[in-house]
Amino acid sequence: MPAPTPSPDSDRAVPPTAARKVEFISQSHLNPSTELNPVPTRGIDPAFFRTYVRTLEAAGYDYTLLPYGSAGPDSFVAASAVGQLTERLRPIVAVRPNTAFPLVVAQQLATLDQLTEGRAVVHLISGGNDTEQARQGDYLPKQRRYARTAEFIDLLRRAWTEPAAFSHEGEFYRFDDFGPGLRPHGDSIPISIGGQSDEAFEIGGRQADVFSFWGEPLADIRAQIDRVHAVADTAGRPRPRIWVTFRPIVDRTDELAWRKAYAYAERIGRTFREGSYGLRPLTGPGTPQNVGSQRALHFAAGADVYDRALWTRTAAATNAGGASTALVGTPETVAAAILDYVDLGADLVSIRGYDNLADARDYGTHVIPLVRQELAHREATGLRGGLQVDHQGAFAPGFDADALAGVR
Ligand SMILES: Cc1cc2nc3c(=O)[nH]c(=O)nc-3n(C[C@H](O)[C@H](O)[C@H](O)COP(=O)(O)O)c2cc1C
Repeated sequence: MPAPTPSPDSDRAVPPTAARKVEFISQSHLNPSTELNPVPTRGIDPAFFRTYVRTLEAAGYDYTLLPYGSAGPDSFVAASAVGQLTERLRPIVAVRPNTAFPLVVAQQLATLDQLTEGRAVVHLISGGNDTEQARQGDYLPKQRRYARTAEFIDLLRRAWTEPAAFSHEGEFYRFDDFGPGLRPHGDSIPISIGGQSDEAFEIGGRQADVFSFWGEPLADIRAQIDRVHAVADTAGRPRPRIWVTFRPIVDRTDELAWRKAYAYAERIGRTFREGSYGLRPLTGPGTPQNVGSQRALHFAAGADVYDRALWTRTAAATNAGGASTALVGTPETVAAAILDYVDLGADLVSIRGYDNLADARDYGTHVIPLVRQELAHREATGLRGGLQVDHQGAFAPGFDADALAGVR
């Protein structure tokens, strides 16, 4: 038998930065249209949506994100449906502060939280594209939008906790004699921040419970996590939980996975060029205005493959509109790659494929249990198991994605 390949992970000690528990997220899909197979729809397909969210719950997911765009379904109404269609799955409502008065959003969230007995989470999006913001009457430049988000967060928390009526006169909001407002089911509702601008880090570190990223190379995510933590430490508050998002492409062997990945990039690139899937809100030709997409395109320009399994061609093919970086390989390799991020401190992992419903089932059967099993092993033994050593993906010497995909 050949000797095992030495790797940076052969050390069995669990890194001090590693998260001990991980929870899984997937974005909700409200109809069967995908970037691989766009189908004209009237919007929501209730039967599909029911199946989708119940599949997430059965697959072992903990949360589902209800995204927000000016042309899509309303995230609050969809989140309320998730609450009624599932028992355990927690809806994460994406909210842009420009869309409603903060006290109204606080009331909506508290209502959702009570209806779901404490499952509500809010993901605040300050708005990454001026054109998309203007579609709903928001003309503030991005920096000011972030300042508004900061005031918005303060008001959400006060609406949930102030024991008596209060008035407020801030830069963006003014009201008199509100409250006490409707309380959440529990003490509070977790507040997450999406965005990679400098202002996002300031607000996220000072005020958020969760800070979210799209998938980036390990060294870059490490630096970004340090950045959020430094702001939180300086502000003397608990460090936000870290959420990372990937689009895994998984198959039984590395060859099959890489062939699939190359075929997918081709198909979603075509969909993007034809504009036949709802990618309009955040993307289009030219340089995206949001820093998260700019970073994804920067990584895509630098290399196709990073670390164990991170693949950027899916980002390049869609001008990085939304979460678009992939993890490619066998379930073991992808689970090991997820653990690389867990080792850096990520404890919320979003995995959503390109064949959305089938992928959710597959991840639940083949990927999520491997990550949980490794964490259970660490908990029981205090040591890493073998997954990251045994499934090296692109860390392996001589790794060649083109050769695996059969294009060379
Ligand atoms: C995990 C995650 C989920 C996101 N969901 C949405 C969404 O539902 N709607 C949206 O307009 N932007 C969404 N975004 C995009 C950013 O939050 C957006 O680009 C931000 O408002 C400004 O970006 P910037 O600070 O990176 O320039 C999401 C970002 C992340 C990291």
